[in-house]
Amino acid sequence: GTCILIGAPLDCGKRRRGCSMGPEAYRVAGLAETLADLGWRVEDRGDVPGPKAPPPAPAGQVHARSENIEWTRLLSNAARDAMATGFPIFLGGDHALSLGTVAGVADHAAAKGRPLFVLWLDAHPDIHSPATSASGNLHGTPIGYVTGQPGFDGFPPMANPVPPRNICFIGLRSVDGPERAAIQSAGMRAIDMRQIDERGIAAPLAEFIAAVRAANGMLHLSLDVDFLDPAIAPAVGTTVPGGATFREAHLAMEMLHDSGLVTSLDLVELNPFLDDRGRTAALMVDLTASLFGRCVFDRPTRSHS
Ligand code: ARG
Ligand code: MN
Ligand code: MN
Ligand code: MN
Repeated sequence: GTCILIGAPLDCGKRRRGCSMGPEAYRVAGLAETLADLGWRVEDRGDVPGPKAPPPAPAGQVHARSENIEWTRLLSNAARDAMATGFPIFLGGDHALSLGTVAGVADHAAAKGRPLFVLWLDAHPDIHSPATSASGNLHGTPIGYVTGQPGFDGFPPMANPVPPRNICFIGLRSVDGPERAAIQSAGMRAIDMRQIDERGIAAPLAEFIAAVRAANGMLHLSLDVDFLDPAIAPAVGTTVPGGATFREAHLAMEMLHDSGLVTSLDLVELNPFLDDRGRTAALMVDLTASLFGRCVFDRPTRSHS
């Protein structure tokens, strides 16, 4: 297959800057070479030329609304185009990029007549709307947007909203009040760290994979650096203690590889300014390698996309 690398140096989903350097960090860390070594054809489309982050909005106000609207438009188009020819990997950029990438991927899935599922590996559910967000940081809103919640005035209307039941969060440990209410009323799959402690990561992930397969779904994976424990992944502005371990994260990627169901990927929230000699960028590249088939011993796999 062909992997399409798309740099999305979006840095306006929150006030602290640095994610604009993410795409270059992934390139320096050898993402393209790593995928090529695994037998993939790799096409790097460079960076989408979106707007830069404006000066911070006052506390409580929505930060960079118009810039995020423009990025949503640009990235949904880029995602739709890339899905037609390969497996897009969006090199973030903060999590606000997923308003656009998931919107574009959802259009593609709808055109194919297949349901879209989204796996959100993150400490946070990012299910706010601009109206419910206390921070005004739009990186906390992509799940609200892609499920078609109200309050996104000025954003392109979500043509093919993702049904809440097709969304699975794994790794949750920082959930705001309105977010908890939204998750529970919509009946989303939400695996918090306590469930991972009690059941491991494999059992709940296997249940979700089975549901995607049973529906003949396409699966978009959105991987936030803060899914990982800050001790192994310091390069993120929103660290939350008690995250996924190295081994839990690799196991999840290996299981997703073996499923053959993942058709698009966001790598988000890497802030190279906060990294420690590139170790977080390198870990994200290694996790991507596991998702794309790196393993110790081959196992029989389902069909590859
Ligand atoms: N829930 C918090 C907020 O709305 C944190 C969001 C963190 N999101 C992220 N993509 N890191 O601001
Ligand atoms: Mn996030
Ligand atoms: Mn997060
Ligand atoms: Mn393989």
